[in-house]
Amino acid sequence: MSKQVMSESSYVGKISALKGLMVEIIILHAMPEERELLVVEGLDDVHLEVSYFTSNGAVCVNINNSLELRCGQKVYATNEKITIPVGPATMGRVFNALGQPLDKGEDIKTNRRVISEASGIKSYKAKQKPELLETGLKVIDFLTPFVKGRKIGIIGGAGVGKTVLTMEMIHNVTKGDKSLSIYCGVGERIREGNELYVTLKETDVLKNTVMFFGQMDSTPAIRSMVGPAAATAAEYFRDEEGRDILFFIDNIYRHIQALTEISTNFGLIPSEGGYAPNVFTELRRLQDRLSSTENGSITSVQAVYIPADDLSDPAVQAIQQQLDSVLVLSRSIAEQGIRPAVDLLKTTSSLLTPQIVGQRHYDLVAEVQAIMQKYDSLKNIIAIVGENELSPADRIDYQHAKLLIDFFNQDFSVAEHLTGKPGQYFTRDQTLAGIEEILGIKQSDKK
Ligand SMILES: Nc1ncnc2c1ncn2[C@@H]1O[C@H](COP(=O)(O)OP(=O)(O)OP(=O)(O)O)[C@@H](O)[C@H]1O
Ligand SMILES: [Mg+2]
Repeated sequence: MSKQVMSESSYVGKISALKGLMVEIIILHAMPEERELLVVEGLDDVHLEVSYFTSNGAVCVNINNSLELRCGQKVYATNEKITIPVGPATMGRVFNALGQPLDKGEDIKTNRRVISEASGIKSYKAKQKPELLETGLKVIDFLTPFVKGRKIGIIGGAGVGKTVLTMEMIHNVTKGDKSLSIYCGVGERIREGNELYVTLKETDVLKNTVMFFGQMDSTPAIRSMVGPAAATAAEYFRDEEGRDILFFIDNIYRHIQALTEISTNFGLIPSEGGYAPNVFTELRRLQDRLSSTENGSITSVQAVYIPADDLSDPAVQAIQQQLDSVLVLSRSIAEQGIRPAVDLLKTTSSLLTPQIVGQRHYDLVAEVQAIMQKYDSLKNIIAIVGENELSPADRIDYQHAKLLIDFFNQDFSVAEHLTGKPGQYFTRDQTLAGIEEILGIKQSDKK
């Protein structure tokens, strides 16, 4: 943000009330625009962003939560909104939501875009037929196929392995010179961001990555802006350069949380389960921006935190509605030491169709799901009467289910320092063949 000259013509008015992040101003002269940045007399680095207007004024957000604001201070317009740099010069760089470098590199002053304005999308239609991207993770490639231009969610409560799984996805799918990745860290640990940066640098993936961070130490205003900032970068590459982008976000729930904190600060009345309705509108707007068009695609991997392990949380539900595939991680499975700790029954995908994954894969999924359903009900019976009391057919299904659970267990490359075991990568064909072997299906039988 450039330093503004405060002149008579840019004079907007005065601060009339302060409450947390919320700053109310009375408009006495120039009328600012929505989302415009305002500066305060005598305070060079303090910016207010106009959120909405009242009958005689405006309500703004104190972006960096400056404690130097006082009622009566004069406020000036800047004719600017929050922008981030876009394009080739940003590759390999790390920024905050305001587009300022976090990597000690140079500030990029040219080719900047406003983060609050979605690029005008002409058509959402993806041009090509669905293209499967391989992740090398058996359970993902099998149950939640990673399809170019679509959205996959990794959802789970605290500490069940969302971040590690997201990192493994980055590790496995960003290889190759052509892929361009955008990473967006929202409200999570600063340490994790640093680790990812170092890893990407070591593996030479960083040069094809642009990173944005608004971690847990940032104000809710900044945390709520980092998603739109990263979306702006993705839109640029998609629309202006026709690129296919891999977009990783950890964690999209923190975006909602930040918006909720701001709404609470503004005194907006929450409706659904403690969330203000505007929060869901903002979420949809962000998700819409992460869409694919005729020009290029955005394939996103979104980690979703589940508060109190409650899958019925309205925000979690709202996020799930926007995703094509939802990989559910479960605490009870993580506690058994299974990695990734995927709940095979709750995990769903709308992309599991014969057209996308092929008939062989599709039929296998149906079979595995049926066995897992049965396993779930048999488990309770066995707890009471024991496995020997099962009918022979049930016993076979039960054994198959146990073998499948074990089969989907896999060592991660990014967790090698934790487990001491090297990571494993499986092609989709290896995964399908492995499942067929467990179920005693021979390809030749089917032909
Ligand atoms: N694949 C794995 N192999 C070995 N250990 C793992 C694996 N996945 C997760 N863990 C262990 O579980 C811990 C928590 O994982 P992770 O940080 O990914 O959880 P999270 O769901 O992102 O948690 P939070 O909600 O707190 O962000 C890790 O620090 C690691 O010790
Ligand atoms: Mg995490």
